[in-house]
Amino acid sequence: MSGPLRIGVVGAGNISGAYLETLSRLPNVRPVQVAARRPERARAVAARFPEVRATTPEDLCASDEVDLVLDLTTPEAHLEISLAAIAAGKHLYGEKPLAPTVEEARTILDAACAAGVRVGCAPDTVLGTGIQTARACVEKGEIGVPVAATAFMTTPGHERWHPDPEFYYRPGGGPLLDMGPYYLTALVLLLGPVRRVTGLSGSPRRTRTIGSGPRAGTTFPVEVATHVTGVLEHQGGALSTLMMSFEVWDSTLPRIEVYGTEGTVSAPDPNSFTGDVRVRHAADPAWHTAPVLGGYADGERGIGVADMAHAIATGRPHRASAELAYHVLDVMEALLAAAKSGDSRPVVSDSPLPEPIPAAARPEELGQG
Ligand SMILES: NC(=O)c1ccc[n+]([C@@H]2O[C@H](COP(=O)([O-])OP(=O)(O)OC[C@H]3O[C@@H](n4cnc5c(N)ncnc54)[C@H](OP(=O)(O)O)[C@@H]3O)[C@@H](O)[C@H]2O)c1
Repeated sequence: MSGPLRIGVVGAGNISGAYLETLSRLPNVRPVQVAARRPERARAVAARFPEVRATTPEDLCASDEVDLVLDLTTPEAHLEISLAAIAAGKHLYGEKPLAPTVEEARTILDAACAAGVRVGCAPDTVLGTGIQTARACVEKGEIGVPVAATAFMTTPGHERWHPDPEFYYRPGGGPLLDMGPYYLTALVLLLGPVRRVTGLSGSPRRTRTIGSGPRAGTTFPVEVATHVTGVLEHQGGALSTLMMSFEVWDSTLPRIEVYGTEGTVSAPDPNSFTGDVRVRHAADPAWHTAPVLGGYADGERGIGVADMAHAIATGRPHRASAELAYHVLDVMEALLAAAKSGDSRPVVSDSPLPEPIPAAARPEELGQG
């Protein structure tokens, strides 16, 4: 294949505009079609992007104009859309989580393997300068041997701002499966894959109320744990302490910190592409801001797709890989199972770590050889 990778987007909701903005400006990808369940929603999104035409999910998957299906549907539709794309011989990149369950994710990966197509998965925020710089600090030995980490994600809940927030409270959602992929992917990049987990969870409120948009005031049921705490044992022995919550009105907790024998690295929000990485060395009481040591500059949602397009064109592994997303999903499912049973659970999956991204890399240059 020569020329930009042609992208068909399934899902025309809240996040679709951010992806289409990025994909429209990068040279090695070209968004060409968009589809949703409701044709008028696909048409409304297509109207904002002159190169993109609205169609149905079925026609998009079957189209000769599409090389990669970008699945921006809600988690419960990921299996259906993924299998349709793979059956049509398309590469696939999906929003997180890869699927609501490990079993569904395995079905997707097996189908892709049999079809000889690639699968990528969000988050791609960890390819930005924030987490890539934190990873470089840890790998350079700035804090000695890493022994532990913390990861905290706190919010009162997405129903305050999302006009259709029910999916955040159904299987495949909740603070762990929705926001955990950002934090756990970052922790895996910083400390390596996970081999064992334990934790506890709670779900104190049985309903939530939509806070914005045309359906504001509508109450809907909560079907998942809304406060999850856990401990992860990484393969190298380091321990990460985790709290993912839709129950916290405010907090002053850091997002991610890594503690080593010689110091501490404080990483920025892994749901963001940028942000300062701060380092405190054992011998120096002051915190220092690290220079940018890695990551795509000016990252936006969609750079993982562009990285994958470059990987397909050049025959290298893509970084936002399905194997990494599968491992993260496996960790999350094991943590929820441990929280139910009250014991610890082994994590059997593994994942190769993606190649670090050099400091001066620009996604705009991915198409230039
Ligand atoms: N919102 C964010 O800020 C954000 C940020 C990062 C990641 N994400 C992730 O992105 C994904 C989508 O989130 P969102 O906020 O954009 O959701 P959303 O606003 O509810 O939009 C979901 C879209 O998927 C379409 N859809 C759902 N089921 C479908 C099916 N079976 N076949 C075809 N289309 C289907 C919907 O079609 P209709 O429009 O016709 O209903 C809608 O266009 C989720 O996995 C979420 O975790 C969201």
